[in-house]
Amino acid sequence: ALNDCKLINLPKITDPRGNLSFIESEVHVPFDIQRVYYLYDVPGGSDRGSHAHKSLHQFIVAMSGSFDVILDDGAESQRFHLNRSYYGLYVCPMMWRYLDNFSSGAVCMVLASAHYNESDYIRDYDEFISQAKRL
Ligand code: TYD
Repeated sequence: ALNDCKLINLPKITDPRGNLSFIESEVHVPFDIQRVYYLYDVPGGSDRGSHAHKSLHQFIVAMSGSFDVILDDGAESQRFHLNRSYYGLYVCPMMWRYLDNFSSGAVCMVLASAHYNESDYIRDYDEFISQAKRL
């Protein structure tokens, strides 16, 4: 559900030479990291996402620039603005997600709990709602 998803503050080692943050599997994110992917060169005004995952856990970080992530559990939704590389959004399974409001040069990094598997996706919103109601 939506209240299982949360913004997580990452360690930040501030240094006049430049700051450093890190993410350890099962320490800073509540799952074993099996995959990393990233969105970049996103044209202004475009949007991404619009699907849910049946069992995948994800953690989304704005490595550069900013964007919004809208999470919807079928009952309620919340918009999160990501604009710092030292925090990220944990997204639990069965959340419809939609990403928009990308700044120019934004890089969206996603850590995921499993390799890519199209059969884990729910890409139809009505199908998502009917599956979410059964939970
Ligand atoms: P998709 O997850 O639909 O994009 P987004 O949610 O970011 O808008 O993926 C877009 C395409 O990329 C789709 O054809 C599947 C492919 N893809 C992979 O092959 N491997 C991956 O790890 C991901 C995330 C996507």
